[in-house]
Parts: sequence; C-alpha cells; structure tokens
Amino acid sequence: MEEPESFYQNIFASLADGVLIVSADLKIVKVNQAAEEIFQHSRSSLEGEHLSKLFPDQPNLLEKVVQSITAETSYHHVEGIGCRKSNNSRFLSNLTFSPLIKSHNKTTTAVILIQDTNFLKELQETSQQSDHLSTLSVLATGMAHEIRNPLSGIRGSAQLLLKDLKNFDQREYMEIVIEEVDRIDRLVKKMMDLTRPALKDFKQTNIHQVLEEILILEKETLERKGGAFIQTYDPSLPTIEANKDELKQAFLNLIKNAVEASPKGGQVHILTLYNNDYAFRKKQDTLSPNSIIVKIIDSGPGMTDATIKKLFTPFFTTKKRGTGLGMAVSLKIIENHQGKIKIVSKEKIGTVVQVFFPVNK
Ligand SMILES: Nc1ncnc2c1ncn2[C@@H]1O[C@H](COP(=O)(O)OP(=O)(O)O)[C@@H](O)[C@H]1O
Ligand SMILES: [Mg+2]
Repeated sequence: MEEPESFYQNIFASLADGVLIVSADLKIVKVNQAAEEIFQHSRSSLEGEHLSKLFPDQPNLLEKVVQSITAETSYHHVEGIGCRKSNNSRFLSNLTFSPLIKSHNKTTTAVILIQDTNFLKELQETSQQSDHLSTLSVLATGMAHEIRNPLSGIRGSAQLLLKDLKNFDQREYMEIVIEEVDRIDRLVKKMMDLTRPALKDFKQTNIHQVLEEILILEKETLERKGGAFIQTYDPSLPTIEANKDELKQAFLNLIKNAVEASPKGGQVHILTLYNNDYAFRKKQDTLSPNSIIVKIIDSGPGMTDATIKKLFTPFFTTKKRGTGLGMAVSLKIIENHQGKIKIVSKEKIGTVVQVFFPVNK
C-alpha cells in the first residue's frame, strides 16, 4: 500500500538533522525545520537561495554536490563551514550528499544532510565535565580516608611536643597546630558524610575570636611581603548563632584572597560593625535591623567586571595555582548562616568584601 504524501512530509519535518534538497544548479529547492534552526532563517528565505550563500568560500564542497548529482554518487562525512544568515556567524558541520533518484531514473537533485557538530561538541564537553566530577568525588572519598591516618600521627606528636614547650609563643603555635589538625579532621569527616544532610551544629560564636584565630595563621604570609593587618573591632559586637568551624573556613578563604592580592607593603584592614543604632541602619537600609558586618579591605589589583561575574563559580580562578573553590565555599557557608556577601572592587585600587549576618535577639 502506498503511504500518503503527508507521511513522508512528517518524517522530513521531524528529522533531527537538517535536510536541504538542491537542484543541479545548486539552488535550494526544499528545507526541513531542523535546517531552518541550524541556519537560523525561515524556510521561505532559504528556498531559492544558492548553496554558496550557506557554505561560502568552499568551492570543493559545491563541486562534490554537483558530482553527487551528475555521477550519482554519495559522499559521507564531508566537513563544511556553514554560515548562519541571521548574524553571519560560522559553525562546523558534518555533511552527507546523496543523489535523489527520481521515478524516471534521472537524477536532477541532491539531498544534503547536515549535522551541526558545534552542538555535538558542546554535548560531549558537558558529559565529559560530569564524568570528571564523579571521578573527583570518588577520589575525594578515597583521599579522605588516607588523610585522616597521618593526621592522627601529627596530632599525637604535636601533643607530646606541647608538654615540653615552656615558651608562651611556641606553646600558642603548637596549640594552633593541634586545633587546625582537628579542624581538618572534622572537614574530612564531613566530606565523607557528604551524602547525608549536614547537621547544623550552631552555637553562640564570637566573630572576633574567629577572626583572630585566622589572623595568627595569615599574619606571617602578609608580613613576609612587608604588609600588616589592621584590626578595627567594634567592642559592642554581639555573638551570633553559628558553626564556628564553618565560619572560620569562610573567613579564612576571604582573608587569604586579600593577603594574596596585597602588593608589597600592603595593608589588609579587618573591620567589624554592629549596626544596632538607627542612624546607621537608615544609611544601610537593605539590612535587617540588628546585623553585624565584617569588612575585609585590601589594596590589591582589584577585579575586572568579568572576574566579578564569575567570582562565585566553582573552579573559577585567575591564579596559577588557585583552586577556584574559596569564594564558592565561602558563599555557601555564609548563606547557610542566613548571611549575605557583597563585593566592591576597583581595578588598581583594591577590593572591599562585606559579610553581613543577622543577630537574633
Ligand atoms: N581580594 C581579591 N582581590 C582580587 N581578586 C580576587 C580577590 N578575591 C578573589 N579574587 C579573584 O577571584 C578568583 C577566585 O577566588 P577563589 O574562589 O578564592 O579561588 P582562588 O583563590 O583559588 O583563585 C581569584 O582567582 C581572583 O581572581
Ligand atoms: Mg582563594
């Protein structure tokens, strides 16, 4: 039984690949919907057009189409550079030419199948990216186990050393070693528990204490560049409900960035504020009443608009040995605490990072 014309028309229309039917003089006779999308032009404006307009400056390609009609041969996997009529942009495509044999055995037209390989490439890249991520998470879990063993060795040795140390400064450094080892251990454990929902272990936390613990660690790096921290702490700053380890991680990432951005002799200003007074609140009207602010101000190179746009994207970095995870992790932690982060950066002048937390009274 012969299929009705509409049956073939449906197939033609719903093919995912673009189809062009061209005559022997390389005029386009018919196109399907996918071809319209690929060339970003309506059917009516494509039909009647010369093929060289869609594949400009490629005489070999046009010659092959002519041959497929005159010699009745097919060509597969021909690479062509298509031209989108709407904006003149170019795209890579994979083409197949076949003669269209009409009923009385005379070939007058060819069928061109078009695959937009740009699109295929994008698909391949995104699936490679997710492959990469799942490999990473397997790796991370494996590493988590391997990290915890030497950590307990480090902790034990540090504790033995601490017993023998008399000098106050040295004891303080050793206590930091132990505390930091514990923090890594908790972090690694968290990484292993990643599949389970995170427990909110919130306690009243003193932000100044959190900041001071970080500054002890970062001071040396900054001083090696001839720089220094300047702390301006608001003595009325209340404690907030927070997970101290997470906050420490969040501020460490931000302060590290400021230290890394600092030029020789540059100062990093750390400022805290409690905005419980009305005049102050009015000036910062986007804030909820009773919030605390931590500002980290550096005199580094600042950021371009392009960098600011991608700042919180995981793995975005402009540094040779950066991970690009610092800002993404900080944002997540701050949001977990109902906080907000605001960045103001001027090229050649520096960067101001402001972190806001609500205070529940
Ligand atoms: N204080 C800052 N001054 C200038 N650039 C910054 C600052 N903080 C962040 N950046 C930019 O944001 C990028 C991402 O930061 P981050 O997520 O911490 O990753 P990383 O520090 O590993 O590069 C940095 O590579 C840098 O370009
Ligand atoms: Mg960083």
